[in-house]
Amino acid sequence: MSIHDPARPDLSVTPDTVAAIEFDAETIAGAVRRLADEVVRDLAGEPFILLGVLKGALFFTADLARALPTNVDATIDFIAVSSYGRADRSSGEVRLLKDTSESVEGKNVVIVEDIVDNGLTLQYLQRLIGGRNPASLRTCALLDKPYRRRVDVAVDYIGLTAPDTFIVGYGLDYQEKYRNLPYLARLHDWAFAGEGRE
Ligand code: PRP
Repeated sequence: MSIHDPARPDLSVTPDTVAAIEFDAETIAGAVRRLADEVVRDLAGEPFILLGVLKGALFFTADLARALPTNVDATIDFIAVSSYGRADRSSGEVRLLKDTSESVEGKNVVIVEDIVDNGLTLQYLQRLIGGRNPASLRTCALLDKPYRRRVDVAVDYIGLTAPDTFIVGYGLDYQEKYRNLPYLARLHDWAFAGEGRE
């Protein structure tokens, strides 16, 4: 099917559940380029692993990797974690769904997160990866909600400060939907089914 196929739905149409675009694709791309520059500046000449945190950081990790200079010695790996039922998030329990594919021992590792909210997920990851004797451990987050922090975690590179509202798109979901949107958006209140927005 060609992209010009009249039978194909128009992919540029914004879902009617989207109330406003908070960060458009161009703004995101600019932040990603800046973050890539910062990472490379600090790790100049050193090999490193970009360790993307699934699922939210799927697109961010891919775009960050492609924004690196082509002569950079970087590899890409993924780890998948999930918080135990959102209602229990305050417990800080994070479940490891998929571990890294390559060993991090003796390597420079950059954890790549889509968003740092209360910080519990990142605290878990920094303890897990930090306990495996990496040569260095840094964290790069596209979005930050510093005013939501419950635990003190170091974030070395921050792309954008997110508004105090629930946002979706560019990897972030609401009940697994909207990850595919090319921008970060706020939804109408009526788009949230039932109680939880997380
Ligand atoms: C989200 C996000 C971060 C984490 C941040 O992941 O991708 O990993 O929550 O929240 P915190 O700072 O409050 O811990 P989620 O558990 O929703 O899984 P997902 O990435 O698969 O959507």
